[in-house]
Amino acid sequence: MNIVLGVGGGIAAYKVASLLRLLKEAGHDVHVVPTQAALNFVGQATWESLSGHPVTSEVWHDVSGVPHVALGQNADLILVAPATADLISRTASGAANDLLTNILLTARCPIVFAPAMHTEMWENSATVENVATLRSRGITVIDPEVGRLTGADTGPGRLPDVEQIAQIALAQGIKTEKDLTGKKFLITAGGTREYIDPVRFIGNRSSGKQGVALAVAARDRGAQVTLICANISVTPPSGVQLINVETSVELSDAVRSQSKKADVIIMAAAVADFTPSNYSETKIKKTEDKLVPDIELKRTEDILQSLVATKSPGQYIVGFAAETGDSHASVVEHGLAKLNRKNCDLLVVNEVGRNKGFGTDENAVVILAKDAQSSIEVPSSSKNVIAGEVLNVIAKAIR
Ligand code: CTP
Repeated sequence: MNIVLGVGGGIAAYKVASLLRLLKEAGHDVHVVPTQAALNFVGQATWESLSGHPVTSEVWHDVSGVPHVALGQNADLILVAPATADLISRTASGAANDLLTNILLTARCPIVFAPAMHTEMWENSATVENVATLRSRGITVIDPEVGRLTGADTGPGRLPDVEQIAQIALAQGIKTEKDLTGKKFLITAGGTREYIDPVRFIGNRSSGKQGVALAVAARDRGAQVTLICANISVTPPSGVQLINVETSVELSDAVRSQSKKADVIIMAAAVADFTPSNYSETKIKKTEDKLVPDIELKRTEDILQSLVATKSPGQYIVGFAAETGDSHASVVEHGLAKLNRKNCDLLVVNEVGRNKGFGTDENAVVILAKDAQSSIEVPSSSKNVIAGEVLNVIAKAIR
């Protein structure tokens, strides 16, 4: 893989020399692009001798080779470590005032940031907003570790182990290998709305982030993607066929019309299990005799189960399970029971709670395959990382 390793001006830059070694030993070609400030911590000679390439921070060297465009365009992966508050801010604002920020603007490949800074800087609302901006643009920002910082202080802000950074970054870089070329993916995202009357509905908290991350990852790996969006609260991606729906009936119709031609179907949408038995054409009013209306509910179709029942030969079907553990069983035990019940090829199980799973950028999941003896645990990671891991399992299974 052709990797650009951007280095920010933080003390953790010294650890990035080992990260560079690791990437080189794994057989990757690495160009190091430090900021001017980074060179105060680790000098040019170190980066040049470890990477085997000339190193500069400026756009004014080798102008005829146009490195600020060429390096970004040719990269399969850009990894920035340590990503300082300043570098995160400049990237979020679209600045192009040194070689690294120019490269970040010209890149068309996955980008991973590994921040490291003092806790106060990481928790400052400016940094929090800038990190959210980067994530909303599809950049993977790894959460820093909690631990000893430069001085005697401890807290969130420490650079994670370089092995962990390399693993997350390389999993993102793999996307450019186009291992899903020629495969047709049908993905659902978001959450359905079941209308009670023209203004009220029963909905759920799904934002569509995970489904969108899967669609982007599959597209980047060469797949032809149809994305059915049910009321998503994130920007839908380009380069995929989009179908917008609102209710579970519309979702079911859209899935049915697209499912036969799909090699892989991923049901990431949160589909309502119940819908009002009677829809009121007019807004339900408060009346004097009845202050609270009775809303009778009926079951909706289980779309995933219908898909499994009518599956074409060779088709691969993935379900998602949002679970909360209870006194009867753990999250994974509930997941295994659901996998048996739904009989899909793969079930991605995540724990949900008031601040877990829904609408967040991070998630932790367990991937359970029907024919595998073991499960794959993905610890708290961005939804992009989780999408990459889920696609790795699918790519292997449909090869
Ligand atoms: N699903 C579906 N149709 C439904 C409900 C769910 O296709 N009417 C799909 C979801 O898209 C997801 C999977 O089934 O891929 C599991 O969804 P979940 O809500 O966790 O499971 P339920 O079947 O609703 O099970 P339970 O409510 O018992 O947990």
